[in-house]
Amino acid sequence: ENLIIAIDGFSSTGKSSMSKIIAKKLNYTHIDSGAMYRAVTLYAFQQNYIENQTINIPLLIAHLNEIKIEFKQDSSSQKNHTYLNGVDVEQEIRAMQISKMVSPISEIPAVRDYCVALQQKMGENGAIVMDGRDIGTTVFPNADIKIFITASPEIRAKRRFLEYQQQGKEIALEEVFANVKERDYIDSHREYSPLRKADDAIEVDNSNLNLEETVDKVMEIVQS
Ligand code: C5P
Repeated sequence: ENLIIAIDGFSSTGKSSMSKIIAKKLNYTHIDSGAMYRAVTLYAFQQNYIENQTINIPLLIAHLNEIKIEFKQDSSSQKNHTYLNGVDVEQEIRAMQISKMVSPISEIPAVRDYCVALQQKMGENGAIVMDGRDIGTTVFPNADIKIFITASPEIRAKRRFLEYQQQGKEIALEEVFANVKERDYIDSHREYSPLRKADDAIEVDNSNLNLEETVDKVMEIVQS
């Protein structure tokens, strides 16, 4: 059927994890759109376009066409990894330093246009599950299925905190909570393509659902 499934929502709702599983069940491709904004942020750091939390926006815009983002399956883990200009950056783009600057970077209209065009290209043939903030509103306003995932900020911060802990990263819960709330605010208040539920999206609050239960719920919607 080659559907386009858009899964949007706030940060740390488990969107990417559930999208990955759902794509696998349907034999579709999963595209993590947030990874693209993270890769652009990493590039800006690499080129020293970010200094003391200040972004040199004109310079970044002038070099956007030098950023090549790809997703390739890792042969050992079978997981999709993000590549920035030919280098596997899957781990690096998840660092707290990136999480702190990714929302200001993704507010820049030219950055959004660049990422949205890439997302539309990657999804043009359908059979995709794409997760993000504006997939159902801007990237694929005609998506076949639109899901909007929510959960309380406390629960989301706790989930992200436990993830960091599992990776051996010592980051205080308060810092993770502050970052989650800050990104929620910037993402939903930016002028250009803000995070919001599409009118025709189905909202799923997974505050009290684990990953498996969330997947079951979304699969029910997909198959109904
Ligand atoms: O999904 P993830 O939390 O990795 O996304 C990182 C950041 O990228 C978000 O906080 C948001 O600022 C930005 N983003 C976006 N639009 C998307 C996906 C992510 O602005 N479609």
